[in-house]
Amino acid sequence: MTLSQPHGGILVNRWNPDFQFEGITATVELDEIAISDLDLIGTGAYSPLSGFLTEANYHSVVTTMRLVTGEPWTIPITLPTTEANAQIISVGNTVKLVKDGVVYGVLEVSDIFVPDKEKEAELVYRTTDREHPGVKKLFERPNVYLGGVITLIKRRPLDEFSTYHYDPAETRKHFQALGWNTVVGFQTRNPVHRAHEYIQKTALEIVDGLFLNPLVGETKSDDISADVRLKSYEVLLENYYAKDHVFLGVFTAAMRYAGPREAVFHAMVRKNFGCTHFIVGRDHAGVGNYYGTYDAQKIFSDFTPEELGITLLFFEHSFYCNACESMATPKTCPHDASEHVILSGTKVREMLRNGEQPPSTFSRREVIDVLIAGLQQQGVHS
Ligand code: ADX
Repeated sequence: MTLSQPHGGILVNRWNPDFQFEGITATVELDEIAISDLDLIGTGAYSPLSGFLTEANYHSVVTTMRLVTGEPWTIPITLPTTEANAQIISVGNTVKLVKDGVVYGVLEVSDIFVPDKEKEAELVYRTTDREHPGVKKLFERPNVYLGGVITLIKRRPLDEFSTYHYDPAETRKHFQALGWNTVVGFQTRNPVHRAHEYIQKTALEIVDGLFLNPLVGETKSDDISADVRLKSYEVLLENYYAKDHVFLGVFTAAMRYAGPREAVFHAMVRKNFGCTHFIVGRDHAGVGNYYGTYDAQKIFSDFTPEELGITLLFFEHSFYCNACESMATPKTCPHDASEHVILSGTKVREMLRNGEQPPSTFSRREVIDVLIAGLQQQGVHS
């Protein structure tokens, strides 16, 4: 076995730091989501995408979960701009992609269209409820979408994460250098708790390497900040993981909270980073009660294994069981729920804020210490 082929067959490379943009006047302002998407398209993480979705691809992705060419693609990667700005841009123009006065890339505009956001919300997020953080964001972004091929000119500064920032071409080289033929990818937006460690290590028993790929792009405000989450990984790797079998690298995309659809997207992107396997546990990329516990696993049956091109490892809800005296799931534990240590993220944050320590059966001491220090620091800054 070898590392996965990129989605669509070829690792896209649209990065050209020497691109001359001086004569170009039209400009599109990038928000946090768009600047991370630009970088990920340019470096091949979103292969086979070579730009922001055209109108035909947008409709195809929203309604059929596939690109026009047939490959599974479940999250619309769009470039929204205001109606006023769209008025002064024409199909065929090349526009600068700018954030805070800095040009990060250009777009060759092939499509200018007004999306039906109600439909996008209903089909992608399975709800039009503006309380849903992904739906809220969708409606906050401007109302006209621009489609076309991009050129990435400048990488975004990611100083605090630079040690762990790798492009797909780099992770592939690292995995090969480590001698791994099989690699399981792990997506996360939370600090690493026992349940995460359990499913990561269980998966690792059947593959050569584990690619820990915490998301550090934009998240909702009450999620634990990315730097604190990364520290929780550092202390665990230092003390509890076999160094030759784990690789830590950040995933710079924004979180969409689109549950099932985002799980497929997460899997396709990790395939581009070289993963042969991908973990999907309970309520992957979910939020609140918008998705069923295993909806993010069920959605994969809409695709054939060949078109996915990555092996999914599904895990049931895992927890520490006091009676088993070990981590377990409903598949492996016969005991009553009262024996299970289960805490929601909200509950954990509340405990930490009140100076209470969650039990070490829920989260390792080293991680709790990092979280408490992180919360204290946030308290100082806010
Ligand atoms: S996510 O939004 O990035 O999916 P999180 O960081 O909580 O959130 O989860 C990362 C991965 O671990 C996901 O695949 C999720 O389904 C899985 N997971 C998290 N907690 C559990 C648990 N207690 N049991 C099984 N799987 C879990």
